[in-house]
Amino acid sequence: MSPSTVIIRNQWYVAAYGEEITGELFARTICNEPLVIYRAEDGEVVALSDRCIHRRFPLSKSRLISGDRIVCGYHGFTYDREGTCVAVPAQTRIPKGARVASYPVVEQDSLVWVWIGDRELADASAIPRAPWLAQEGWASVRGLEKIEGRHSLLMDNLMDLSHETYLHGGYIGTPEVADTPITTEVDEAAGVVRVSRHMDDAECPPFYANSTGMSGRITRWQDIEYQPPCLYRLHSRVAPQGHYPAEGYVPGHDADDDPGAFHTEIVYALTPETDHSVHDFWMVARDFAIDDPEVAEYLHTNNRTVVLQDVDALTLVERVITEEERVGGTVTERSINIDTGALAARRMMKLLARAQGDEMADTPARV
Ligand code: FES
Ligand SMILES: [Fe+2]
Repeated sequence: MSPSTVIIRNQWYVAAYGEEITGELFARTICNEPLVIYRAEDGEVVALSDRCIHRRFPLSKSRLISGDRIVCGYHGFTYDREGTCVAVPAQTRIPKGARVASYPVVEQDSLVWVWIGDRELADASAIPRAPWLAQEGWASVRGLEKIEGRHSLLMDNLMDLSHETYLHGGYIGTPEVADTPITTEVDEAAGVVRVSRHMDDAECPPFYANSTGMSGRITRWQDIEYQPPCLYRLHSRVAPQGHYPAEGYVPGHDADDDPGAFHTEIVYALTPETDHSVHDFWMVARDFAIDDPEVAEYLHTNNRTVVLQDVDALTLVERVITEEERVGGTVTERSINIDTGALAARRMMKLLARAQGDEMADTPARV
């Protein structure tokens, strides 16, 4: 089977970081839809189609005037923040129904979420949360890379962290990551796949040694919660070897109840740009050294290096499978135990695709 290129449209996706959106016009393509995004005078974020209805000139290359109106840079069609055309040149009559599409937007947890699919289905309460990104007691670093590869490749990559040992050795990978078995759990009602890898006695990789100051062996937990297709959270807990949390501790919650450990929330927003490209929003939030600019700089540089290693790998895989699809029509894969998380995510994606009338190739029932 081929890793799918189907885009799930009836979903919230991260379109931008809140700080990217100002009173300037900003262009980004989400789910094959070119958008123009801006912050209106009241502070709310607006997302409209980036194509003027007259002759398709990009509105993002146009002018934003007072009253939150965009004047097309080609012949002056003017649109309000709902996308309605409110003025055209050389005539007072505006063609009936003249408007560009507008998209529901919610700004939450420092992220700008947009809904591209059927408007009536957009329910803001369904947006997955990442509270650590804008919460007291936490600090975060972040970045954005575009990958010339389909969304499903990034999903596979993040769901199988055994690649840390090989692709990211010397940064976040140590032998124990690939050697420790995972447990996978699917919560269909919540639409979440959970993958856990608890390493009792592991080497401390440079990423954590340099940011926490720990040395020697550590106890390292990785608990993934992925809500396909859009938000991935890796709850990372590291502590001196043998230091465990109190009974009842749930990774991702109540870090205050787990003294003596360092918590890092690694968040990825996976936003399809086109069928064959994906925006990789990456964020690393920590509850230690929160006022230390050197730790911030270190984590930013280091994590960006790691992300770029993934970008390179996925770009290569995309090229290979696109060519295989072109010449043969099928791509052969062989999955093993480490793939159970990724396969569970693929199955969930398949259900989402079916709900919008698309079919995806079969995922093996088990490995
Ligand atoms: S293309 Fe926008 S007004 Fe002509
Ligand atoms: Fe990676």
